[in-house]
Amino acid sequence: MCGIVGYVGNGETDAIDVLLNGLSSLEYRGYDSTGVAVANGALRVHKREGEFSALESTLPTESLRGDSIGIGHTRWSTHGPPSDANAHPHTDSENRVAVVHNGIVENYQALRDELTAEGVDFESETDTEVIPHLIGQALSAGAAPETAFRRAIDRLEGSYAVAAVFASSDEIYAARQESPLVLGIGDDGYYLASDAPAFIDYTDRVVYLEDGQFARLSPGEFVVTDANGTVVDTTVETLEWDAEDAGKSGYDHYMLKEINEQPTALRQCLRGRVDGLSSTVELAELADLEPSWPVQFVACGTSYHAAMFGAELLRERGVPAQTFLASEYDADRVLVGESTLVVGVTQSGETADTMRALREANRAGARTVAVTNTVGSSAARECDHALYIRAGPEICVAATKTFASQQVALTLLACRLSDASTHDVVQALRDVPDQVQHVLDTSRASEIAAEYVDSDAFFFIGRGHQYPVALEGALKMKEITYRHAEGFAAGELKHGPMALVSEETPVFAVVIGDGERAHKTVSNVKEVEARDAPVVAVTDGQTDVERYADRVLKVPASNDVAGAITANVQLQLVSYWVANELGRSIDKPRHLAKSVTVE
Ligand code: F6R
Repeated sequence: MCGIVGYVGNGETDAIDVLLNGLSSLEYRGYDSTGVAVANGALRVHKREGEFSALESTLPTESLRGDSIGIGHTRWSTHGPPSDANAHPHTDSENRVAVVHNGIVENYQALRDELTAEGVDFESETDTEVIPHLIGQALSAGAAPETAFRRAIDRLEGSYAVAAVFASSDEIYAARQESPLVLGIGDDGYYLASDAPAFIDYTDRVVYLEDGQFARLSPGEFVVTDANGTVVDTTVETLEWDAEDAGKSGYDHYMLKEINEQPTALRQCLRGRVDGLSSTVELAELADLEPSWPVQFVACGTSYHAAMFGAELLRERGVPAQTFLASEYDADRVLVGESTLVVGVTQSGETADTMRALREANRAGARTVAVTNTVGSSAARECDHALYIRAGPEICVAATKTFASQQVALTLLACRLSDASTHDVVQALRDVPDQVQHVLDTSRASEIAAEYVDSDAFFFIGRGHQYPVALEGALKMKEITYRHAEGFAAGELKHGPMALVSEETPVFAVVIGDGERAHKTVSNVKEVEARDAPVVAVTDGQTDVERYADRVLKVPASNDVAGAITANVQLQLVSYWVANELGRSIDKPRHLAKSVTVE
């Protein structure tokens, strides 16, 4: 996730020190390039692809001292791969304004086409660069900096936290829409950041901007206005975090933070891709993809479970689809040819097993698609097409929000690859972020975790769309609690695993909707109950499973797709709270790595 930092001082502190300190504090958010712009009658912009240290080591820091206005940015690529040119800040053609941005400008292509037609040359592939050029246009038309900034922001659709510095002004202008922005009130000036850790070393007094608000920071004052320019009253809050806590935004673990970020991640994944009115799906990245069959998914671990979910959706929509563990995929043994579409699902885009499978598929002449979180990753570069899940960086080793975003992205892909009606799916997807928020707000997972923490083992069952959710529930439990956990297709339990079921083995049953599969899972729940195992039903309440369950984790009533996403959130929370009760190293479980680059 990109990070912003800004500072307007009264002369006591050098802006460059605040910016560098801020950028290093924002590193935890994940990034692939960094940059700063310092203003003092002219703009000096320095930016670099790669680690923060790459920028720091090449920066003429001493010559930037004495200036007390500047902005900085850590970029996490969304439009265009990591590169010096794509790093922020971006400027207009005459270097009058420098801009940093978090979020996605949905209408950037239309704005870019318009600006290009008017003679503007673009230096990057980013959506962000339209903003300084729009500001530049307004400046050329005679507007003052603040007016020019507001006019540009008014043209944007999508999500943004934007900050701008001008060569001709000693102020910073900022705006927020669905992307966080917080002001810091210091004794030596005013700070601005996407997250308070960026300035917590200087001040703990903050003002949170709200959607639609603008801020003007000058050496002597800060002013917050609404979209009409009317000044709004603000409340200054005092943070009680230390710097370590601040990186986790007050959560005890990145895992819990990332679980709670899911509504935002899912909104980002859906943004600009579904049209609620026409119930259609449009994936700009896949505009020139010709649907072809069969579809073969290759993936590992959690991504494999997402792939299973994607394959089930395709089969339901009449498209032949298979899932392969990437480490078992062998293009010589499976039928793969020019009409095969091979989809690699990998949040990192670097997993060695998945990359090997994709390379084999490429060699066999198949068309390949990477479904990944990482722009510019090996998977994105080497596949014919890339579909980004836009979850933002995930720091915890155990995947949570990337799984939910994969579920949504693969649902969109399934719509794109089939001719079946997209009406019900699109309507359900539009509600999912709010439904996930509801689960987060009401979940009783911590109580259930406390009750069953000492169990001998944990079993998870589900059918159809809920089968991969059961597998994922078990994987998450194993990874972070180190307790035995298994996921089963609900119908398989009686074919062997039932021998393991006892009073000491809670069975989590995912039962969504009231279709045939849900009712059959209820029958399996009765079989488990008859053998005295505690049953936790994860359900939207459309069957009578609650009658046979000892405990219930409720999700909003919806369909199989939305239910698989919300039910999984409940299971993530159960694993988290069991691991927390056991005092495990939740963010870095033993023996595991975030990106597995060996076969
Ligand atoms: C589990 C987990 C792993 C990954 C697997 C594939 O929480 O994170 O099972 O899903 O290593 O990683 P990617 O998606 O990066 O290919």
